[in-house]
Amino acid sequence: MLGRKIDVLNRGQIPIYEPGLAELVARNVAEGRLHFTTDLAAAAKQSRLVFLGVGTPPGKDGKADLSALWGVVDQLAPHLRDDAIVICKSTVPVGTNAKTAARLKELTGRDIDVASNPEFLKEGVAIDDFMKPDRVVVGARRQEVIDVLQELYQPYLRTDKPFLAMSPESAEMTKYAANSLLSTKISFINEIANLCEHAGADINDIRRGIGHDSRIGFAFLFPGAGYGGSCFPKDVRALAALAREYGVEPRMLNAVHTVNENQKTVLIQKIERHFAGKLSDKAIAIWGLAFKPGTDDIREAPALVLIDRLLAAKATVRVFDPEAMQNVRAIYGDRLVYCQRRDDALRGVDALAICTEWKQFVHPDFEEMRHVMRQPIIFDGRNLYNPQRMRVAGFTYYSIGRPDVK
Ligand SMILES: NC(=O)c1ccc[n+]([C@@H]2O[C@H](COP(=O)([O-])OP(=O)(O)OC[C@H]3O[C@@H](n4cnc5c(N)ncnc54)[C@H](O)[C@@H]3O)[C@@H](O)[C@H]2O)c1
Repeated sequence: MLGRKIDVLNRGQIPIYEPGLAELVARNVAEGRLHFTTDLAAAAKQSRLVFLGVGTPPGKDGKADLSALWGVVDQLAPHLRDDAIVICKSTVPVGTNAKTAARLKELTGRDIDVASNPEFLKEGVAIDDFMKPDRVVVGARRQEVIDVLQELYQPYLRTDKPFLAMSPESAEMTKYAANSLLSTKISFINEIANLCEHAGADINDIRRGIGHDSRIGFAFLFPGAGYGGSCFPKDVRALAALAREYGVEPRMLNAVHTVNENQKTVLIQKIERHFAGKLSDKAIAIWGLAFKPGTDDIREAPALVLIDRLLAAKATVRVFDPEAMQNVRAIYGDRLVYCQRRDDALRGVDALAICTEWKQFVHPDFEEMRHVMRQPIIFDGRNLYNPQRMRVAGFTYYSIGRPDVK
């Protein structure tokens, strides 16, 4: 598996979709600064700094599964140089740095420096985030290690952005706190949006009404069909699991997760309500499968919950996503109709559901859409359109936290 990925990279291809990454990798390979290998011993011998970026997916009870991390630590240990610094970029529970150092001591008999350097980039704009970070956080126990990493990151921190040195435990906790707070903002605005639907208020007005308060701001306060991806869901659960291990009840984190699980079902609830629960003779189009625009990542994507529920109700499901189709096909095989173009997905459908706010969904030709759809009904999980305009365009239009248009 790993060997196959490395072969792909060595052929100059990138196994994931991330804007700009292929060009960046190709340039650095061509100029001899970057190469890929499965020869851990040779790579470790040449390297003072060894970064670990393996996956830490949710395991049992939401705890982070660290098996890939321990696998790589064990493989690496015999090959590490005396002056090596092992730097953990994976998001890991508090205490993992200390356990890594202890494991390396056990395996090598040496005190190998281990630093914690959480990654804050966003998929879809990963390169920009990496090159222009808001801050770099490094947790280490020795000043020399901090100095080496500060020198490494200095070219990316030439403006006023800070390099924040702290203990490894604080660095590990910082990453979980950041993702948990961002998830909290999303679940909060989703809960208010759901309330707006009952109260006859419009979440877009509320969003603006609170966002202009400089203490609140606008970021991560867009309502939608729930957050997904490889980080927020797993990190909220992992921090909650960590709290429980300490005997602390993670009330906020539990609520953030529960609200989000429910939010992933709001589109199917609206669809079922509209069609009075009878979907077996309905065809539904889905635009957007990736958990957010700019990526082909479908891990924990809200679209998957919708697909599962539609298939369980025996609906025909026609899907389109600019990048994530292959990943979805790998899960659902021939149970879905895969459409190569956005508008092909609409042919003969009783409704369109929108799960990801890709730019190409923002200004469709509504006139044309009404012609190809069997019924002009849209369930918009990302609030892309103006409800009044949808009324004029002749659509029945459901969105999140705003008045329905029928
Ligand atoms: N994806 C993000 O946006 C993001 C952002 C910040 C932090 N993180 C954190 O970074 C870590 C990785 O996330 P990801 O989304 O890239 O995960 P991923 O599962 O997409 O990638 C992990 C990679 O590690 C490789 N790997 C596994 N075992 C290995 C081994 N023994 N030796 C070498 N390689 C091995 C896998 O082949 C895979 O390519 C996670 O801890 C995640 O929480 C991710």
